[in-house]
Amino acid sequence: MNKQDKPLKVTIKTFGCQMNVYDTEVASGILKHQGYEIAHEHEDEESSVIANEVKQSQIASSLETPRNDRQKKKDWRRIDSDIVLMNTCSVREHAEERVQSRMGMLKKAKETNPDLIIGLMGCMVEEHREKLFKKYPHLDLMVGTRNLKELPDLIKTVRERRTQVSSIKQDGISIEYTDQIQRTGKYHAWLPIMTGCNKVCTFCIVPITRGSEVSMKARDVYREASRLVEEGVQWITLLGQNVNSYNGAEVTVGSKQEAVSSLQNEVAVPTADSFLPTGFPALLDMLCEIKGLERISFTTSHPHDATEELFQVIKKNSKISRRFHLPLQSGSNNMLKRMKRLHTFDEYKEKLARLKSLVPDISLTTDIIAGFSGETDQDHEETMKALEAIRYDGAYIYKYSLRPGTPAAKLPDDVPQEIKEKRNAELLTLQRKITVECNQSWVGKTTHVFLESQSSRHPGFLIGRSDNEKRVTVKAPPDKIGSFVQVHLDSLHHETFTASLLL
Ligand code: SAH
Ligand code: F3S
Repeated sequence: MNKQDKPLKVTIKTFGCQMNVYDTEVASGILKHQGYEIAHEHEDEESSVIANEVKQSQIASSLETPRNDRQKKKDWRRIDSDIVLMNTCSVREHAEERVQSRMGMLKKAKETNPDLIIGLMGCMVEEHREKLFKKYPHLDLMVGTRNLKELPDLIKTVRERRTQVSSIKQDGISIEYTDQIQRTGKYHAWLPIMTGCNKVCTFCIVPITRGSEVSMKARDVYREASRLVEEGVQWITLLGQNVNSYNGAEVTVGSKQEAVSSLQNEVAVPTADSFLPTGFPALLDMLCEIKGLERISFTTSHPHDATEELFQVIKKNSKISRRFHLPLQSGSNNMLKRMKRLHTFDEYKEKLARLKSLVPDISLTTDIIAGFSGETDQDHEETMKALEAIRYDGAYIYKYSLRPGTPAAKLPDDVPQEIKEKRNAELLTLQRKITVECNQSWVGKTTHVFLESQSSRHPGFLIGRSDNEKRVTVKAPPDKIGSFVQVHLDSLHHETFTASLLL
């Protein structure tokens, strides 16, 4: 872009998971660096969310905004942007439908402003590829999750030639570490460490959209985490479709201390006898050594790969978040088998019991699918019983949505919509009650909170997250923002605690 021109305005709308939030931050940074002006919109899928907090992806950006306010749909027929990019999600049909509805509005917008550039990124691009150009003749560009760096060139080509362009690489890693990133959070950062998934959960489209597992090298993760800390970040959430099967091997020999000192001193990695960790627990353990990095969260874990070694690392390091998200999907062994989840409910429950015995104050959250293929009333009852047995602090509950191309697409989607809705509502009601009870049990206790921002609704109050990632408002001076404090949890209002500062 010509520097003296008025900057072109890019609106980026993000659907879906935290990985997309990160990719948007990268795309925004790259474009901003090229002189574009960036405006953001984030929209989580309207899932039946019940958790003691807003979804992780909203932590840094909008701690205070109630969900419904955030999700007011803008009328894009009159959008005042030069370029609109949608970072899309394919995990459920509904997420794709909402992109389609926006594409409809943008068609109208382009009739009044033919110069408008419309682009797509994210999982729908990986799933449908060039077919989308046929479906939407007004779509100008598509960029794959592995090609974000090419975004400025693609926009330039569209502006010069007014032709449909795309860059969608099939393999390799879709993670870009860049200091150009435009992070939303000052103190919190997302840090992807692996992408793709080698599991074959039959309902899931992620192995198709994100491909096979690929991990960043431990050295690169460590370096990026250290860079973020130098920028003032104190809390990092490690991201991956299945972080527990992270494999950043450069061969593991030697002690953690040797590995850390090799990294801190930037010693060249010997080919055969490097000390760097291969697996996730060792990586986590090593990141805990970074001075100034005060809290580390991670998501998502697959129960099969959540090991004793991981639990021991969590126990050992108080820097690791005391909230563990472990998707269950169903409490019925029949369903778990049909979903190819690789474990029974009892095996899953035993793992969590072991974790709880090692780290008693840990909060547990999960994902549940209601109405998967073949689910009977009995199966549903078993999921209800599972919620009662585990007593999660929160759960994301979704109605099953058949995804073309997944193994389950060959199975009948035979639970009628109204039954899915009914089961979904029952699970929600039950989980809501358990969430309130879990939260109530914290009132009167003392906890450690990271203060992130000022409350706009309650002057004199700051907002933060406890070690269990529960939302807390604390009466404290603004200079405490960006620090960890001990608080007494006085009361609970909906899912937010009011606390007083302990000196
Ligand atoms: N391990 C992944 C899971 C991706 S999908 C990650 O979080 O990175 C997130 C959740 O969406 C899953 O745990 C599952 O509960 C839900 N989900 C996935 N596919 C679905 C489908 N076809 N219908 C309904 N829910 C689905
Ligand atoms: Fe999807 Fe199962 Fe992998 S839910 S992301 S296939 S662990």
